[in-house]
Amino acid sequence: MALLITGLTQLLTFKGPAAPRAGRAQREIGFVKNGAVLMEGGLIRAAGTEKEVTRNPLAKKASAIKVKGVAIPAFVDSHTHAVFAEPRLGDFSLRTQGATYAEIKARGGGIISSVKAVRRQAPAEMVSQLIGRAGRFLECGTGTIEVKTGYGLDRNSELKILKAVKAAAALTKLEMLPTLLSAHAVPPEFGGSKEYLRYVLSEILPEVVSKKLAVFADIFCEKGYFTPEESLEYLKACGRAGLVPKIHAEQLSNYGGAAAGAAAGAISADHLDYARKKDITAMRRGGSVATLLPASNFFLGLSKYPDARAFIAEGVPVALATDFNPGTSPCWNMQFVLSAACARMKMTPEEALCAATINGAGALGAAGRLGSIEPGKQADLAVFDAEDYRELCYYFGANLNKLTVKKGNIVYNNSRQ
Ligand code: NIG
Ligand code: FE
Repeated sequence: MALLITGLTQLLTFKGPAAPRAGRAQREIGFVKNGAVLMEGGLIRAAGTEKEVTRNPLAKKASAIKVKGVAIPAFVDSHTHAVFAEPRLGDFSLRTQGATYAEIKARGGGIISSVKAVRRQAPAEMVSQLIGRAGRFLECGTGTIEVKTGYGLDRNSELKILKAVKAAAALTKLEMLPTLLSAHAVPPEFGGSKEYLRYVLSEILPEVVSKKLAVFADIFCEKGYFTPEESLEYLKACGRAGLVPKIHAEQLSNYGGAAAGAAAGAISADHLDYARKKDITAMRRGGSVATLLPASNFFLGLSKYPDARAFIAEGVPVALATDFNPGTSPCWNMQFVLSAACARMKMTPEEALCAATINGAGALGAAGRLGSIEPGKQADLAVFDAEDYRELCYYFGANLNKLTVKKGNIVYNNSRQ
């Protein structure tokens, strides 16, 4: 059945090339006043002014709803670690007393404490927990997330996570694209990073690829984790096996991950707090999207944020994502990320909204299918309780979403009309 949504005070379509937007193009939002959207068979059939769209013959046969508000493409959250067993409340308390990420790691917290909890968790519990979290994303206007492994760090536990993502994806309307992040940290039972990466490449990667359990491969390139040389070699091997490379780069120091990622053909480099000019140039040449994660800076209490303006000036497309994870960003709400991007990284509301939609899709190689509201694209959108799109970036700490549509179906409705 076709679905027609009318009454939209403002509609941002982000219509344009099926690619992430860079430089000035990141401000082009495809603005429509008094908009409407027509969908059928899971795809957008028409989007524009209410006058234009209701003239379409299909509109007469559609089930029609009127929703007052601002419509945008459903958020594409291209960086999450959404599978974890427990929050890290002990780490959180220590941080309130001044401990840093590195100090918490040294005291037995950090990634390895999440690994212990994931290894213990029953698969069925992992699935139901993820379905619950998927509902949180949908209610905030997110239609697609990327989900990383990385809290298992052995064959059985990493596969348990990927199978849980697959099982949960069949039971929720949220679309989830899986990433193998076995190279998140060296687990205690291994002597060093080289030995562990050899194990991942020989014991985990082949099975993940043959069972088609992941789309992307990621690595945490940082002092005390994996070096740029290791990252380059590892991502190239994953690429040859058929996974699309991504990298956690320059998060805690300037270390060389962004350039290593670009050399390995990474579709995105993520975090980038300490990226310098040379790294940004390497990313532009290599075609990597810069995925910035300001909710993690907020949560860690950092005063330094990634330099979004430098990436935009250089012509590197900027995407925004939550980094939802128990250690550095327990946040699933892309609306908070928009606000942090504008307030702390001086992105304009137009750039931030582009970064959270079509550029998020670009960071997942899905800009031809997701991230804009135009005929032929997947019918994923959200309507917010606002009169002006800038309110989405302005009010913070709230959920303004009233309607989420995924593949042409209403999957969350709080519109009280
Ligand atoms: O994206 N930097 C590495 N990974 C996560 C944090 C993981 C954790 O602390 O559990 C991040 O910030
Ligand atoms: Fe991350």
